Amino acid sequence: MPYIYGPRLYLRAIEVEDWEHGYRWVNDPEVTRFLPLHLFPYSQLRERGWYERAARGESRDEVHFAIVLREGDRYIGNTSLFAIDWRHRQAGFGIMIGEPDCWDKGYGTEAMQLVLEMAFRQLGLHKVWLQVDADNERAIQAYTKAGFRREGVLRDDRYYNGRFHDTVIMGILSAEFVPLERETEG
Ligand SMILES: CC(C)(COP(=O)(O)OP(=O)(O)OC[C@H]1O[C@@H](n2cnc3c(N)ncnc32)[C@H](O)[C@@H]1OP(=O)(O)O)[C@@H](O)C(=O)NCCC(=O)NCCS
Repeated sequence: MPYIYGPRLYLRAIEVEDWEHGYRWVNDPEVTRFLPLHLFPYSQLRERGWYERAARGESRDEVHFAIVLREGDRYIGNTSLFAIDWRHRQAGFGIMIGEPDCWDKGYGTEAMQLVLEMAFRQLGLHKVWLQVDADNERAIQAYTKAGFRREGVLRDDRYYNGRFHDTVIMGILSAEFVPLERETEG
């Protein structure tokens, strides 16, 4: 059931039945190259458990969405707001498009804009922030297109592939958000 539409994709709730897609994505080194996920293999039990929790949606401080292409209803990734802080009205943002053939087509930017619209217009948040590996140029470019600004860097933040890597902090305030021009329904 679509929840919010963009021009080319929509966000919907995550369902338990989606889990086999996620299982494939989190075990694909190309997808997880810049994510903390890639350090260990993910079991079916672990991934299924994540999907069950996301589908139950009981947490007050996080919300997860499936990213689906309008054409063919193809499920291509997940996106989340997490660490939602209702007092300071801010949340962390995460996204994974698990199908590499869908990268560099603007889908990530569109999904970000839809989540930001929900964060600012429905939840009344003031700020959305994120952390990204400094080497993840594709993600940084997409975040920048969606309106995130670079706020700082955590030097030598994570160790993998034999060396330390910097983490970039980015954020967007509600007043900086430019909503996507889009239809309100399919
Ligand atoms: C990061 C991610 C969400 C981006 O989504 P996407 O649909 O590929 O992004 P978009 O197509 O909207 O934008 C990507 C931009 O990066 C650019 N790009 C791609 N590779 C690049 C590189 N090596 N250096 C600089 N820019 C690059 C693209 O050209 C495009 O910019 P443009 O439209 O100005 O030409 C997606 O690729 C993904 O999920 N990757 C795997 C998981 C991940 O890294 N998640 C983010 C964790 S913080």
